[in-house]
Amino acid sequence: TGLITYDPGFGNTGSCSSAITFMDGERGILRYRGIPIEQLAERSTFVETAYLLITGKLPNREELTHTSVMLNDASLLHEDMKIFYQNYPSKAHPMGILSAMVNAMRSFYPELIDLEEDISITFLRLISKVRTMAAMAYKISKGHKTVYPRPDYSYAANFLHMMFDNPVIPYEMDYDMVQALNVFWILHADHEQNCSTAAVRVVGSGQVNVYAAISAGISALWGPLHGGANQAVIGMLEQIRNEGLTISKAVAKAKDKNDPFRLMGFGHRVYKTYDPRAKIMKKMCDLILKKDRPAENGGMDPLLDIAMALEDAALADPYFQEKNLYPNVDFYSGIVLRAMGIPTNMFTVMFAIGRLPGWLAQWREDALDPLRKISRPRQVYTGETITDYTPMDER
Ligand code: CMC
Repeated sequence: TGLITYDPGFGNTGSCSSAITFMDGERGILRYRGIPIEQLAERSTFVETAYLLITGKLPNREELTHTSVMLNDASLLHEDMKIFYQNYPSKAHPMGILSAMVNAMRSFYPELIDLEEDISITFLRLISKVRTMAAMAYKISKGHKTVYPRPDYSYAANFLHMMFDNPVIPYEMDYDMVQALNVFWILHADHEQNCSTAAVRVVGSGQVNVYAAISAGISALWGPLHGGANQAVIGMLEQIRNEGLTISKAVAKAKDKNDPFRLMGFGHRVYKTYDPRAKIMKKMCDLILKKDRPAENGGMDPLLDIAMALEDAALADPYFQEKNLYPNVDFYSGIVLRAMGIPTNMFTVMFAIGRLPGWLAQWREDALDPLRKISRPRQVYTGETITDYTPMDER
């Protein structure tokens, strides 16, 4: 009732109160439960950070061991779910498959008893199985045998094992890659009320089951302006290389409002300075891109040179300066993922695995909020006030 305020894209609307993630877009600050992202990237693991986001505190040794055991126990997929994969067209996008599989989990694991049960079993089940599903989708797309997880590997190492081990060439674990993967997932683990998290909260507010809410988050993340940007950055860098575009031509195209070309991996709704995650991701390029390895296995990547030249040119350009457009997390993350051997169409899936703890933490916070209401925004109506029905032969 009363005057409705129109806020396109909800840029100035607080949709919830939250104690999970703190962001200061002007100063480039990101903290999970108060802990700076830089400290977590340097000292934590993805599993520990997931625990922090969901429960609000770092686990002690016993809690962390218990979580790791539970994640291992839950890592297998129901064999009947494997059949789903076989009926997808071979070119199906893995994000579409992932959101459908997560939604299907509700039918395979319906036993939600209460909210505490959700947290201890369902959350860990989701975190563990999403990783298995992603690796399995990749193996099946290649026509290869799927690989089972190993109980002696950590969460991140197991993902690389399930992705890249095969009966002919066993995967030799590379612990620089394991570290880079942990950092990649930590940096993506939460980002307050972004498009996919807002989707999880909106869908969850109707009190649907958690699988359906997470599935909605995965669908939202798929878009090129959101999680799809890491894939789009590589597409853009390849376009620059393949078409022989000079850096200044690429910057000029990005500024031209009549050209749909944008600098993917640049700009952010909240950060008006360098995205703190992009700084850490750039450092990860140095860790894993080594001159003495072949390019497809973490060796120097010519796209990194293009990316760095593009960053320098854009940051020196008044258009980007005036609009406060800086590299975001996706600008360098694609290069890190390529070095790990992750195929480009799996990049957004990698983001989804990382964001899952954030979605779960936000879903839980919402479910426990005594002031929670079903999401039901209003609108500013611009249509006809009233018109009469026209019979068919008078139209
Ligand atoms: N290249 C060229 N111009 C840009 C770019 C860009 N990447 N980003 C914004 N602008 C311009 C835009 O054209 C607009 O200009 P004007 O005011 O003259 O119309 C101005 O900057 C403001 O942009 P906006 O689109 O109104 O800002 P937004 O807050 O609605 O959009 C964004 C934010 C991230 C969608 C946008 O910056 C963008 O499309 N970036 C490229 C895609 C990308 O990298 N997405 C990943 C975001 S970070 C990870 C995640 O959240 O998933």
